Amino acid sequence: MYPEQPLPEALERLSSRRSVKAIDLQEPGPDAPALDAILDAALRVPDHGKLGPWRLVTFSGPARAEFGRILATRWQALNAHANDAQVLFEQNRLLRAPVVVAVISARQPDHKIPEWEQILSAGAVCQNLLIAANLAGFAAQWLTEWYAYDAYIQSLFDVGESEDIAGFIYIGSAASKPSERPRPENQSRIQRWQQR
Ligand SMILES: Cc1cc2nc3c(=O)[nH]c(=O)nc-3n(C[C@H](O)[C@H](O)[C@H](O)COP(=O)(O)O)c2cc1C
Repeated sequence: MYPEQPLPEALERLSSRRSVKAIDLQEPGPDAPALDAILDAALRVPDHGKLGPWRLVTFSGPARAEFGRILATRWQALNAHANDAQVLFEQNRLLRAPVVVAVISARQPDHKIPEWEQILSAGAVCQNLLIAANLAGFAAQWLTEWYAYDAYIQSLFDVGESEDIAGFIYIGSAASKPSERPRPENQSRIQRWQQR
């Protein structure tokens, strides 16, 4: 039999999972072995054609501040009137969490597997990262913000024509769980198929 048994606790955790705002994340984050376990779990996504249409870039320790300095410089180049507080915010952006994982959707264009399906697989990696982090005891948030869409920042990740930054997954610990947010009424989004 597969799976051997139901895991009601995991289902309950999934059913009540909340993202925690990056600004509310704190130490500790996953150490290297814990992060490896989260990444290994997250990359077990459905992948039509076995293309592996995604790649990851991880940030921890001083890499976060280094990248923050790049963000701050770019922000100043884009915003001539950027004030000190904004520049400082950019410098500290990745320092909001102990670990940040950039997920890049890396498609093979003109492949018989439609690009849309390859994009969906990268989205699945992002969601799996949120779930794996949660099951490993960490809180997380999926963000794109401005820098996921900025051509210069993308160039630093060697984002090619058939690539996009699907998101930055911020991972850390949270002092408390956020209260529930408004959500679509599930039943309004679920229909039973009716023959036409
Ligand atoms: C692709 C994607 C990009 C997102 N980017 C942002 C963002 O840039 N800023 C933001 O405040 N929330 C962003 N969010 C929303 C949050 O990650 C998250 O959905 C929200 O905080 C509530 O999520 P929850 O239902 O998991 O608690 C993004 C969500 C997705 C799916």
